[in-house]
Amino acid sequence: MRPLIYAANWKLHHGPSAAREFAARFLELTKPIQDRELWFFPPAISIASVADAFRRRSDIRVGAQNVHWELKGAFTGELSLTHAAEVGATLTLVGHSERRHVFGETDEQSARKVKAALGAGVTPLLCVGETLAEREAGRTEEVVRRQLDPVAALVTDAAGRGKVLVAYEPVWAIGTGRNATPCDAADVHRFIRAYLAERGWPGRVRVLYGGSVNAGNTLALLAEPELDGVLVGGASLTAEGWAEIVGLGG
Ligand code: PGA
Repeated sequence: MRPLIYAANWKLHHGPSAAREFAARFLELTKPIQDRELWFFPPAISIASVADAFRRRSDIRVGAQNVHWELKGAFTGELSLTHAAEVGATLTLVGHSERRHVFGETDEQSARKVKAALGAGVTPLLCVGETLAEREAGRTEEVVRRQLDPVAALVTDAAGRGKVLVAYEPVWAIGTGRNATPCDAADVHRFIRAYLAERGWPGRVRVLYGGSVNAGNTLALLAEPELDGVLVGGASLTAEGWAEIVGLGG
């Protein structure tokens, strides 16, 4: 059985006290399951609370939703990898579609963040994915390639490459209730792996799927061996709902 990752992206939900309440309830509801890692991406201000609440659970890791590529300096409003790591973040999302499409993050900026995370000892989960118009125009692979290109150019050492994970999150599936079929997702996952392998990336890159994952479709998605896990927004927001999802699959 491949190890599975269940990643919760809370977006702009759950401040420190709500996050602590979630964690307390989640600890009551769940026990570690072999070969299964649970990742939490709370808002930056709640990272410390979540990391602290879960410190005794070795199956749980906590991360930032976004970081800056510089570790310090005159960057008002940004989150430093060093500071996030200091309060318990060992992971970061990079280039989530909301960063790219709402806040204008470029492919090059995402690549710099991946590189900076690796330098800071933080595991990057790089998000890629096409819009509906791009999918309908048959441009999915071209878009994903364009998003991966600067990362492949900037991250050149084998050790760093071996640590990068990718989440395929088609923009049209995020928060819409419309998920990619396991087969559609698997096609893109295969493409991502082949693309990186051609550029000399070592081993089998771990690729998660995200976009309207819920308790009703998790099993079918994870039955597809190309998926190494799921990245979940809306359905990860209640302890009960998330406990149900992480108990599925494998
Ligand atoms: P969703 O979000 O599960 O609410 O579609 C996924 C994500 O944005 O990571």
